Amino acid sequence: MKSFKITTLPGDGIGPEVMDAALAILGLVGSEYELNFEIITELAGGASFDKFNEPITESALQSCLESDAVLLGAVGGPKWDNLPQNKKPEKGLLKLREVLGLFSNLRPAKIFAPLADASSLKKDVIVGSDVMVVRELTGGIYFGEPRGHNKQEGFNTLRYKKYEVERIAKVAFELAKKRNGHVTSVDKANVLDSSQFWRDVVHEVHQDYKDVPLSDMYVDNAAMQLVRDPKQFDVILTQNLFGDILSDITAMITGSMGMLPSASIGENHAMYEPVHGTAPEIVGLNKANPIAMIGSVAMMLEITLNQPEAAHRINMAIETVLEKGIRTIDIASPNSTIVSTDGMRNEIIHAFQDSDQSIKSSRELVKE
Ligand code: IPM
Ligand code: MN
Repeated sequence: MKSFKITTLPGDGIGPEVMDAALAILGLVGSEYELNFEIITELAGGASFDKFNEPITESALQSCLESDAVLLGAVGGPKWDNLPQNKKPEKGLLKLREVLGLFSNLRPAKIFAPLADASSLKKDVIVGSDVMVVRELTGGIYFGEPRGHNKQEGFNTLRYKKYEVERIAKVAFELAKKRNGHVTSVDKANVLDSSQFWRDVVHEVHQDYKDVPLSDMYVDNAAMQLVRDPKQFDVILTQNLFGDILSDITAMITGSMGMLPSASIGENHAMYEPVHGTAPEIVGLNKANPIAMIGSVAMMLEITLNQPEAAHRINMAIETVLEKGIRTIDIASPNSTIVSTDGMRNEIIHAFQDSDQSIKSSRELVKE
């Protein structure tokens, strides 16, 4: 029996609720595919601060370092907004990215057809769009030194080393190759030296991927083009801060943040988490949408644990449930059936179990 060690960091707000739902699905995958998941749960974010006075502890980091993959719920909330910068829940997340070396952040934003009405953009603008944001995650202005602020000034440093741009550019080209797509590298090379450098290095790496079309776009134009015509994009490659901003835009093209999973991957470690936040206003009400967290489990199964069939079945189960009109409140539409977090979890579990039969019979067909 294959065994995987997974550290879960449920975090704050609705994090623990959606994590429970996701772990239920993972348990089912374990029994159907004869995989043993050793689950270790640690505190992160505000929950960790409340207990240990730190947004992430050394021992939690150690557990993540020793795991095959990490699952994170969400961190943050108004309760901790006034803490000093280095105690804030978000600092725990940045520390995780840094210590685990998670330089590459993949944020797929694909429209679920039954939810096309949930977007604030016109249906014909968005239907058919499928964008993958590849965001550099451990460099740039998020981590550059010197940084600081006092009563007179505040400053950060935006700096990229060649190897940092090279490795993230490779990730984007490899992905685009697999998707039969193209790369749009987003920068601000008309103003920033760091961006001119970024552009030069991306074009150098492109020499090894001549079959993958590459274009450059300034970030202000990219923000505009994303809402004007998202279908022109396939893989967007960009630095840490631009990726933070543009991935929120791509998320809203799909209509709801509650749907989108993400992966943060490094040389030796990987962490999976929903794109949404902690939703403090609905904590404890059994209303949170667990789909992004469940989708993050699917990404983990596919990318890190090499279980593409299980991942595919989870994604299909999500689609089946949405097609039936079953919705949590955040994605409700006039004729839908509203369910709780647990209700959505159960529906996805049933759809997953039902797909067993069809998967088995298609395997038989292949054998014949
Ligand atoms: C994200 C978040 C984080 C970021 C915060 C919580 C540190 O907005 O993952 O997009 O800015 O990277
Ligand atoms: Mn963000």
